[in-house]
Amino acid sequence: MRVLVVDDEQIKRISLADDLASAGFETVSAAEGQEALDLLARGSFDVVVTDLRMSDIDGMELLKHIKRDRNAQTEVIMMTAYGSIPLAVEAMKLGAYSFITKPFRNEELIPLLERIRERSQRPPEVLKVEESIDLSRLEQAIIGNSPAMREVRRLVQLYARNDATILLTGETGTGKDLVAKTIHDLSGRRSAAFVKVNCATFPDHLMESALFGHAKGSFTGADYQRDGKFDLAEGGTIYLDDVDDIPLDHQIKLLRVIEDKVIERVGTAVPIHVNVRIIAATKKRLLIEVQNRTFRSDLYYRLNVLRINLPPLHTRLVDLPPLVDHLLKRIAHGQPYSLHKEAVQRLLCHTWPGNVRELAHTLERAFLLGNGRITPDLLTPEMEATHEGLSASGRFDIAVNQTEQELLHQALEEANGNKSAAARALGMRLSTFRDKLKKHGL
Ligand SMILES: Nc1ncnc2c1ncn2[C@@H]1O[C@H](COP(=O)(O)OP(=O)(O)OP(=O)(O)O)[C@@H](O)[C@H]1O
Ligand SMILES: [Mg+2]
Repeated sequence: MRVLVVDDEQIKRISLADDLASAGFETVSAAEGQEALDLLARGSFDVVVTDLRMSDIDGMELLKHIKRDRNAQTEVIMMTAYGSIPLAVEAMKLGAYSFITKPFRNEELIPLLERIRERSQRPPEVLKVEESIDLSRLEQAIIGNSPAMREVRRLVQLYARNDATILLTGETGTGKDLVAKTIHDLSGRRSAAFVKVNCATFPDHLMESALFGHAKGSFTGADYQRDGKFDLAEGGTIYLDDVDDIPLDHQIKLLRVIEDKVIERVGTAVPIHVNVRIIAATKKRLLIEVQNRTFRSDLYYRLNVLRINLPPLHTRLVDLPPLVDHLLKRIAHGQPYSLHKEAVQRLLCHTWPGNVRELAHTLERAFLLGNGRITPDLLTPEMEATHEGLSASGRFDIAVNQTEQELLHQALEEANGNKSAAARALGMRLSTFRDKLKKHGL
């Protein structure tokens, strides 16, 4: 496998090229972006490992150049400084395979390169078939044709190709578990385990041992050594649901796993390397938790590298009819059923505070009560806070308000709390943006 190392920092460039060559990769190095472009024009490379910031042509431009060329199967790994993580995220969106934050030990790159090699060694035909299966699998798993859900599917597909930490946000029942599992199933890790950890259900004092395992005798009751969830997920994906529930004093340990990929069992001080992809989910607005100092800001930024927000169902009611079809098939399990023609109309009038899960439960109950014949009178949503008594314009106002609030919040989070940047992203004057924040109490 041919690797091109691009860095204007001489020492890092030489030591990295040396170490990669000793690890068996055919390695060439370039001291500048332009030199890299020349080398790329003359020969092909499987992987380009490039610094993000360089004096002439920076890593981002190099990436764009590589990805513009239709023939280039070349994967790009970005080396970035801690402070430029937002740029690195941008790079991933433009098709970079992964990024690694400086300073790092050269050998940390090797597993990444090996994964790329494994993939490229599969025969191309097989790859094609697999990719098409993946796509139809994706469309069958995550239903919805609203622009928001198409974007979710696009991100799922994109993020399944790399290994960076993902944060899933969204209200209860919007599909965070589903998305996490789908990413795992589409990723190169699919043959290893997908381990879900519900961070809300562990008492504080057991959290650490549950995640990282413990040594025999490390605390009262620890009669034998126990593996933690990270051990179970080795080679696969760990899904940390309700990650905001991890107590503050354990958050630092999670940060360490993300940054160094090492864990320490309770009762030992021996670091153990783990190869696990982390997907975290939260129903909360994490940035607010950060402001309230119940969530570490460094952990937040580390988790928030790749982000997928699952929008509430009431903001994408066009998804409701196909979801009803999908869920009913799942509920009926091959038994016959019928759906009254006014049933969907009725469902469209509810605001679905419990989102898709509430819809599924509503349909399930109607299916059971009606023996497969689903009539409007059987469709009583389970959650409170319906606005059915309201006029159409009242419902419209509520929906507009909620959507506005979400967009403001999302823009703020994406801009890492910078109001001017968030206003610009929304195409709004800063003063207007401020007024709106005030109106929503954000
Ligand atoms: N877009 C979708 N397409 C198909 N099924 C969906 C979709 N979104 C959600 N579901 C289904 O709705 C139910 C709830 O979804 P899920 O458990 O993933 O939500 P969640 O966001 O994890 O909720 P919570 O925050 O309460 O844990 C599941 O049965 C899931 O399969
Ligand atoms: Mg969930």
